[in-house]
Amino acid sequence: MTPNRMTYVLSGLVVLLTLVTAQALSWDHSLFTSSPPLYPSPASAGIGWEIAFAQADAFVGNLTLDEKLTLLTGIAQGPCVGNIPAIPRVNFQGLCLQDGPLSIRQATYASVFPAGLTAAASWDKGLIYQRGLYLGAEFKAKGAHVALGPVAGPLGRSAYGGRGWEGFSPDPYLTGVAMEQTISAMQMSGVQATAKHFIGNEQETQRNPSISKNGVTIESVSANIDDRTMHELYLWPFANAVRAGVASVMCSYNRLNSSYSCQNSKALNGLLKEELGFQGYVMSDWEAVHAGVATVEAGLDMNMPGPVGFGITTPSFWGSNLTMAVTNGSVSEVRIDDMARRIMTPYFHLRQNIDYPPIDPESGDINSLGVHPYLDTFKFGPANVDVRGTHAQLIRELGAAGTVLLKNIDGTLPLNAPKTIGVFGNDAGDLTDGLYPISDKYEYGTLAVAGGSGTGRLTYVVSPLDALKDRAARDGSLVQYLLNNELLSNPTTAFQSIAPSPPEVCLVFLKTWMQEGEDRTTLLADWNSTAVVESVASNCNNTVVITHTGGMNVMPWANHPNVTAIVAAHLPGQESGNSLVDILYGDVNPSGKLPYTIAHAEEDYAFAAIANSTQLQETEDPNAWQSDFKEGLLIDYRHFDYYNRSVLYEFGFGLSYTNFSMSNLNIRNVYGNKITARPLPAPIVPGGNPTLYDVLFQVTAVVTNTGPVGGAAIPQLYVSLPQRQDPTPLKVLRGFEKVSLQPGEDTTVTFDLMRRDISYWDTKHQEWIIGGGSIGVHAGFSSRDIRLVASFSPM
Ligand SMILES: *[C@@H]1O[C@H](CO)[C@@H](O)[C@H](O)[C@H]1NC(C)=O
Ligand SMILES: *[C@@H]1O[C@H](CO)[C@@H](O)[C@H](O)[C@H]1NC(C)=O
Ligand SMILES: *[C@@H]1O[C@H](CO)[C@@H](O)[C@H](O)[C@H]1NC(C)=O
Ligand SMILES: *[C@@H]1O[C@H](CO)[C@@H](O)[C@H](O)[C@H]1NC(C)=O
Ligand SMILES: *[C@@H]1O[C@H](CO)[C@@H](O)[C@H](O)[C@H]1NC(C)=O
Ligand SMILES: *[C@@H]1O[C@H](CO)[C@@H](O)[C@H](O)[C@H]1NC(C)=O
Ligand SMILES: *[C@@H]1O[C@H](CO)[C@@H](O)[C@H](O)[C@H]1NC(C)=O
Ligand SMILES: *[C@@H]1O[C@H](CO)[C@@H](O)[C@H](O)[C@H]1NC(C)=O
Ligand SMILES: *[C@@H]1O[C@H](CO)[C@@H](O)[C@H](O)[C@H]1NC(C)=O
Ligand SMILES: *[C@@H]1O[C@H](CO)[C@@H](O)[C@H](O)[C@H]1NC(C)=O
Repeated sequence: MTPNRMTYVLSGLVVLLTLVTAQALSWDHSLFTSSPPLYPSPASAGIGWEIAFAQADAFVGNLTLDEKLTLLTGIAQGPCVGNIPAIPRVNFQGLCLQDGPLSIRQATYASVFPAGLTAAASWDKGLIYQRGLYLGAEFKAKGAHVALGPVAGPLGRSAYGGRGWEGFSPDPYLTGVAMEQTISAMQMSGVQATAKHFIGNEQETQRNPSISKNGVTIESVSANIDDRTMHELYLWPFANAVRAGVASVMCSYNRLNSSYSCQNSKALNGLLKEELGFQGYVMSDWEAVHAGVATVEAGLDMNMPGPVGFGITTPSFWGSNLTMAVTNGSVSEVRIDDMARRIMTPYFHLRQNIDYPPIDPESGDINSLGVHPYLDTFKFGPANVDVRGTHAQLIRELGAAGTVLLKNIDGTLPLNAPKTIGVFGNDAGDLTDGLYPISDKYEYGTLAVAGGSGTGRLTYVVSPLDALKDRAARDGSLVQYLLNNELLSNPTTAFQSIAPSPPEVCLVFLKTWMQEGEDRTTLLADWNSTAVVESVASNCNNTVVITHTGGMNVMPWANHPNVTAIVAAHLPGQESGNSLVDILYGDVNPSGKLPYTIAHAEEDYAFAAIANSTQLQETEDPNAWQSDFKEGLLIDYRHFDYYNRSVLYEFGFGLSYTNFSMSNLNIRNVYGNKITARPLPAPIVPGGNPTLYDVLFQVTAVVTNTGPVGGAAIPQLYVSLPQRQDPTPLKVLRGFEKVSLQPGEDTTVTFDLMRRDISYWDTKHQEWIIGGGSIGVHAGFSSRDIRLVASFSPM
């Protein structure tokens, strides 16, 4: 095959013109009051898992109806967050399901890794894979068969969403890559991964039904998402997850077009099982099931956590009801067999039937829930097994790699043996309220991980203050610290204890607590952060602000003349201080980039506000909670670019201690065959039509380190697809690589453009289609630092 070299032209003008002519997304609420029925539920054929599927088939064929049903519904009375009981007759030891996306949450002697958001901020596929590998190894060594992560929903539509940090980025391409790396790696370690939460779980507020003052059941919020937005944004990373062979997909709490996600046949049977060819099992989120037969028919395969009791208050609607439904013929045993096979196939594929480690009894709720009638059916091993290995090294490295340097005036950083260092803020020091930050918004202590089921039990945390003291001792620097934000927020008294004053450099640490179950009400960092920064900065002309946060923060102090550097350290995990000090002292040259946009002001994020109001909180209308995703595809940078809004720090941005240039943009057709607008029909495999992933074009560019020190760059590729009737983002991320270069060194980076990458979702034909017209290509170092522009005609 001879590569077809193509010429390119500057396409900036094309973008400007389309900006003016594009129309707004029209919105007709009546289209979202129901979800199209899609039945029957497609049966798995075990595509890609043929041997395991045959084993599962034989296994299920050997079970009685009652035994099959025990595979489908959890029991709370077990040692794990989710428990499928053993079937000793056939030597099946049951399934242990454990939280969560960054750690085996409750277990002792386990690692707390950087959060998904931090992993995304590294833009480092290798490190993301390594994180997945180690996470998987820890789950397995603790006897957990199924890990409840990673997260692609919430994707991060709203800056106020409480859970965005559990996943990766509001950009579906970046999240898709991270999902694929994480899932492949976790399953390589032998643990089943769960892609969650499917789908539209973009807010926590009213994620579950509530009871009104008058006793009316008020249903969960309905995420109303049009078909194109579903495919190009929210479903996109789940397609990567399915393609990576994810064992399980967890349906979410919210409703989708007015129908509960766990009984939405269009979403589960249609999008997931039919279109994406998902061969594993759909698991419910905990207590997210609100019907019996309807959920089975809609494609739900496993119901968690199980019947009422032991802290569970919502009925499963399965159990005895399901037995009756099969007996009376309203659910066919054929469907039950499919459910059971879907559950057992990944188990055999990952060889969990052979010598799987026993459950560590100190890894779940076991001691807090009372009587456990099923307990003796589980296979227990020794307690408090230390599964951390040497994972701390990766945690430190990834923590630093996911740290983003946002501002650095006149070489403030890296620090160069300062004589005096001031450390300020309640986020700097060690934790005073315990090592398991489950829900309290603790005042003192650094924020290494956020809260809810996505948190982790720390065995230790290296606080920034401790790490700084250690590092500063090498230079004989004086480290003074003041951690009380109340004292700090008064500029006249803040520095009373500091001498000499001001210190050569003042490091201010801010944090923003976030947790499952609640959304944010402000995008400011917590604990009087604005007053604290202003107070320190008014006393110190070399103020460096470091934030620990699970999401987008506004930074009203960013342009204060005395704020000379800003570092977004995200949620780094247990090695927090070490990761940070590596960056502050230049032992690691920062290469992290924002996986989201930091706007100037809170109002700038209003385009994707969560549904909420006093009126809704007090409603008596069961269907009152509606969240219309009217912004369509235009979330995060797609919004700011489309409307040409200035931002504080754009998506993909992050500074380095060196500089990089980019040259020689080249686009080649590497497909060899004639490119058609539609993908060639092909049997569906996990991920969907396999030809969607054919590499059609390769874009290359040369990246050179033009600065004084070695470092890593993240060259990024964006494409502009032709405008459609509904607004199309001006450009979307479609490639990135991390390259490490010594001063003066250069390298050629290659971005593969797959068919899906240059197609739009055509709602009429229900197909990914390459639109007519030329496609713009933008290569650069952030979404707004575009160095090279070209365009090409794909057909
Ligand atoms: C939601 O409703 C829109 C508009 O009717 C439709 O295009 C889309 O396919 C629906 N999605 C689901 C999952 O019901
Ligand atoms: C079926 O179960 C019996 C035990 O009751 C076992 O001996 C046999 O190997 C099983 N067959 C399969 C295919 O699992
Ligand atoms: C069976 O369904 C009924 C309503 O349909 C529900 O009230 C009951 O709790 C269900 N039983 C179980 C075991 O979930
Ligand atoms: C069969 O049982 C299910 C579950 O209890 C019930 O919802 C359904 O109405 C029953 N159908 C018939 C025909 O009795
Ligand atoms: C600091 O913040 C706390 C809660 O975050 C608030 O109660 C207190 O009033 C604030 N103090 C000042 C001085 O702003
Ligand atoms: C900057 O810091 C110096 C002390 O180093 C102080 O005198 C000055 O007022 C500060 N500037 C502002 C704008 O707060
Ligand atoms: C900060 O103030 C010190 C004196 O306190 C001065 O030596 C230094 O040049 C100032 N730095 C900047 C960046 O203004
Ligand atoms: C939701 O609205 C209620 C009533 O206005 C308010 O008290 C609450 O703080 C809001 N929650 C969020 C997350 O905005
Ligand atoms: C975008 O905004 C900038 C100023 O913020 C302005 O100079 C430029 O003309 C705008 N572009 C378009 C296409 O409106
Ligand atoms: C990088 O280049 C910019 C100008 O493009 C310059 O201001 C800056 O000093 C350079 N930084 C380094 C570390 O070379």
